[in-house]
Amino acid sequence: MNVIWARSAAILIGLLVLSAGIYLAFGPVPALALACAALFSLLCYYLYQINRLWKVLDAPVYGEIPSALGLWGEVYYRLHRLVKRWRTQVLQVEQQHTRFIQAIQASPNGVLMLDDADQIEWCNDVAEQHFGLNARRDVRQRITHLIRRPEFVHYLTRQRFDEPLVMRDMGEHKHSVIAVQILPYGDNRKLVITQDITKLENTEAMRRDFVANVSHELKTPLTVLTGFLETVRDLPVSEEDRRRYIDLMLVQSVRMQSIVEDLLALARLESDEQAPGNDIVPVQAMVAHLRHDAEALSQGRHQVSAEIDTTVGLRGAETELLSALGNLVSNAVRYTPDGGRITMRLGWEDGHAVFSVADTGLGIAPEHIPRLTERFYRVDRSRSRDTGGTGLGLAIVKHVLSRHHADLRVTSEVGRGSVFRVIFPLERSVRSAGGDGTIAAVPPTGVSTSPQAPDSSRRAA
Ligand SMILES: Nc1ncnc2c1ncn2[C@@H]1O[C@H](COP(=O)(O)OP(=O)(O)OP(=O)(O)O)[C@@H](O)[C@H]1O
Ligand SMILES: [Mg+2]
Repeated sequence: MNVIWARSAAILIGLLVLSAGIYLAFGPVPALALACAALFSLLCYYLYQINRLWKVLDAPVYGEIPSALGLWGEVYYRLHRLVKRWRTQVLQVEQQHTRFIQAIQASPNGVLMLDDADQIEWCNDVAEQHFGLNARRDVRQRITHLIRRPEFVHYLTRQRFDEPLVMRDMGEHKHSVIAVQILPYGDNRKLVITQDITKLENTEAMRRDFVANVSHELKTPLTVLTGFLETVRDLPVSEEDRRRYIDLMLVQSVRMQSIVEDLLALARLESDEQAPGNDIVPVQAMVAHLRHDAEALSQGRHQVSAEIDTTVGLRGAETELLSALGNLVSNAVRYTPDGGRITMRLGWEDGHAVFSVADTGLGIAPEHIPRLTERFYRVDRSRSRDTGGTGLGLAIVKHVLSRHHADLRVTSEVGRGSVFRVIFPLERSVRSAGGDGTIAAVPPTGVSTSPQAPDSSRRAA
């Protein structure tokens, strides 16, 4: 027997015993009157408590459960316990819901929920950006009224969602490529997941371009080589012609070798995830060395000079830096007509060590400048090929400099010349104690002291 029955039985038995006592003492009428009065009071009290309970149930306010004595006290106590338990459960569910929403908001992917009529139920910020939606304004709107692109409408209505849909010109600035995947769930509901694949697409396009470029670059020398080999094999050629053909074939082989070596150097730089060392680079000797190389490459056709601030020191990988700066210098020589001036400078700018090469050469039109560090990019293909260029030099420079967290800045004017400046980060710029701050002009020697061919130093990278 539960507490309600027990207490009710106790009250009724108590009333019965009291009435029986009164009956024995005063007769039946007072006993009946007492019993009726007691039962009426009890009824009124119960009605009063039922009314309180009804009010609580009608408009519950947490923490405002009434209290009472006896039986009703038990009822209210249990009601209070029940409300408390439910409230804890509701809070837990609310917390889970908030965490779930936060997790979806933190996702780099867009998430959009559609009901069975393809109306938006909810979407996260990323989906808003991808589709240009406004979660508050557009909720309960049919998605095809908001995203009207035919390919999307077709994808949604075709009901075949095994492959994602790729949508271009999306996002705030219409520059993004978005992969949209619909996942049906529940009663005809749909989850729309969006992913920004712009970088992936660009990388894929770069990969395709790269393969096409490498093939194209190797095709020309190979065609020339094959042509000469067939001529030498099939036709009677004089000794003099044979020698000339072999010389020409050698030029093409060296060219292919340069391309392959540069590609390998680039691949090495790309795959080396370790930061370049922090060793002190003898940068002043390096610039002097580059100057001698430039003179050797120029063979007296240009006026080459170098100004070195003797306090400038650098931290980094010597071979990589020699290769990068060497390419800038060799470019200056190769793209400056005879009689031009090439000036190298090593100095300070706002505490940063800076190396620059200025030439009075062909110059570069502004539209080419942002693309110079792309692989195989050349402003003037024929000229670059004439000078033996593979178009990979500045790509290597970019990699080496980005590994050193250094910046390459190019200013140029067509017909007047270019300046390539390398600005090293503060942590790699060292003020050398030995230097006295004088700007030393390196005397011309006219002879290369480099053990390597002047334009091949970068292959060391
Ligand atoms: N100082 C410069 N003056 C004018 N044009 C330049 C200069 N430096 C680079 N360029 C242009 O930038 C292009 C890319 O240079 P990059 O060093 O990457 O390749 P390259 O010199 O053609 O070949 P490589 O360096 O691989 O032998 C060159 O083909 C040239 O058109
Ligand atoms: Mg070059």
